[in-house]
Amino acid sequence: MFLLLWTTVLLCEISADTGASVWGEQHCEQQGYCVTLSEGELTAEAGLCVVIPCSFTTIFTPTHVIWYKCKTAEGKCDKSQSVQSEFRGRVSLLEPDVSQRNCSIMINDLRESDSGFYQLRVEGSNKSDAFTFISKAAVTVKGLSQKPTVVIPPLTAGQQSTLTCTAPGLCSGSAPNITWSWRGKGNNDSYITGNTTEFKTENVTAGTQRHTSTLTFNPLAEHHSTNVTCTVSFRGDITTEETQTVNVSYVKEVQITGSRKVTEGETLSLTCSVESFPPSLITWAKMNESDLQEDTDTFTQDQRTGALSIYNVTAEDSGQYVCTATHLNKTHKMRNVTVTVIYIRKPQISGSTAVNEGDVLSLTCSAESFPP
Ligand SMILES: *[C@@H]1O[C@H](CO)[C@@H](O)[C@H](O)[C@H]1NC(C)=O
Ligand SMILES: *[C@@H]1O[C@H](CO)[C@@H](O)[C@H](O)[C@H]1NC(C)=O
Ligand SMILES: *[C@@H]1O[C@H](CO)[C@@H](O)[C@H](O)[C@H]1NC(C)=O
Ligand SMILES: *[C@@H]1O[C@H](CO)[C@@H](O)[C@H](O)[C@H]1NC(C)=O
Ligand SMILES: *[C@@H]1O[C@H](CO)[C@@H](O)[C@H](O)[C@H]1NC(C)=O
Ligand SMILES: *[C@@H]1O[C@H](CO)[C@@H](O)[C@H](O)[C@H]1NC(C)=O
Ligand SMILES: *[C@@H]1O[C@H](CO)[C@@H](O)[C@H](O)[C@H]1NC(C)=O
Ligand SMILES: *[C@@H]1O[C@H](CO)[C@@H](O)[C@H](O)[C@H]1NC(C)=O
Ligand SMILES: *[C@@H]1O[C@H](CO)[C@@H](O)[C@H](O)[C@H]1NC(C)=O
Ligand SMILES: *[C@@H]1O[C@H](CO)[C@@H](O)[C@H](O)[C@H]1NC(C)=O
Ligand SMILES: *[C@@H]1O[C@H](CO)[C@@H](O)[C@H](O)[C@H]1NC(C)=O
Ligand SMILES: *[C@@H]1O[C@H](CO)[C@@H](O)[C@H](O)[C@H]1NC(C)=O
Repeated sequence: MFLLLWTTVLLCEISADTGASVWGEQHCEQQGYCVTLSEGELTAEAGLCVVIPCSFTTIFTPTHVIWYKCKTAEGKCDKSQSVQSEFRGRVSLLEPDVSQRNCSIMINDLRESDSGFYQLRVEGSNKSDAFTFISKAAVTVKGLSQKPTVVIPPLTAGQQSTLTCTAPGLCSGSAPNITWSWRGKGNNDSYITGNTTEFKTENVTAGTQRHTSTLTFNPLAEHHSTNVTCTVSFRGDITTEETQTVNVSYVKEVQITGSRKVTEGETLSLTCSVESFPPSLITWAKMNESDLQEDTDTFTQDQRTGALSIYNVTAEDSGQYVCTATHLNKTHKMRNVTVTVIYIRKPQISGSTAVNEGDVLSLTCSAESFPP
């Protein structure tokens, strides 16, 4: 029992000693010269960056690390000036203190041509202290497929808002250019007057940055269901974009259509409409002596279309009708309309029909009607 425990501890210590870690396996190529690189190939996208994790051991104190790019895993590696200039300004050592034996590098502004195998050479201050490891790190750079992240808060017409576009990747290479474009109805390019854009670079951790652009503008009803596109261009004509359809909540004026004069017995049809997003709820009510009557028994209505109908109207249906639009159950917009019913009652003859000769005959014919 004790023995078993002991060996387990021993095994743990051994594996800790060999420097095995989650990201790679140590390869000792000569007594005292070992390198740990990531297992398998590293994949990255053009325009972004890649980190090649790396650590090594040497019997001398290292002062320089050099990376070579190789076409194949076994083949020769390019040590030419042209390759050096190709990478100038794009490669950085994550741990500047070489004596820490941490050879991790970050390659920024990646191009697809950066795909290949990378080989490490370590040098000390004494000319004879140098070692080139055979193990190589495989890197594959693919075309950029990541898209920017566009965040649109809920927009309300007339309330200034800010949209945010974040470039993909957390790299410390060249800052990308971020541009906004707007596409209106009918695929027409349009632009927002009075917009302001702001570009921001934020340090996330040492050596990683986040690039964002904000677009601040005053949304209008006209911007509803149009498309906004954020385009991010990285060095080397590498672009990616994201398009989103914009929703703007708005409510326009209430409009009432239909004939306000109707003949008794016919049908009164009125429509109350309000252009809005999201759609409004429309309710009709009849006014009686400056008192809003919620009783809707006298008519039928459709709260979605705003249609009001009274079949077989009577003189009593005359009066003021009020239409109320409820938008996002907050805004109440009202409009009223006066309905007149044209009618005529049977004529009535009044007066004495029997009269003595020589007297005055006075008869009155009256017909209740509107208009008189
Ligand atoms: C190398 O240094 C970088 C930056 O300090 C660090 O993130 C990384 O973990 C180090 N790698 C090793 C193997 O120590
Ligand atoms: C450099 O290395 C050689 C051979 O290992 C040794 O003879 C020499 O003394 C070293 N020079 C220095 C300055 O350490
Ligand atoms: C907005 O984009 C969507 C898909 O991204 C497309 O279907 C729609 O037609 C576009 N609308 C306009 C106004 O361009
Ligand atoms: C698109 O723009 C053209 C030219 O500016 C204009 O004639 C056309 O009416 C526009 N279409 C829409 C749907 O706004
Ligand atoms: C913002 O306004 C500028 C002019 O001030 C214009 O060139 C640009 O296209 C506008 N951007 C958008 C997204 O409308
Ligand atoms: C981000 O880091 C860089 C160098 O590491 C530095 O020059 C810059 O001032 C930093 N920016 C911010 C906003 O901290
Ligand atoms: C950003 O735009 C400027 C001016 O158009 C250009 O000089 C620069 O190269 C662009 N940068 C990138 C990363 O595309
Ligand atoms: C815009 O509204 C439509 C319908 O209400 C919804 O399906 C869509 O997700 C909304 N778009 C955004 C960006 O909120
Ligand atoms: C007005 O409405 C009230 C109830 O809301 C009702 O009692 C009254 O009779 C109505 N008046 C007229 C003139 O219709
Ligand atoms: C219309 O109303 C009058 C009075 O209320 C009634 O006599 C008549 O039958 C009604 N006509 C129809 C078609 O409903
Ligand atoms: C009003 O809207 C809120 C959220 O938009 C909802 O939770 C609430 O139930 C609504 N109230 C009524 C009376 O519909
Ligand atoms: C009805 O409308 C008229 C004119 O459009 C207005 O003077 C009146 O105050 C309105 N009445 C109500 C109750 O809104």
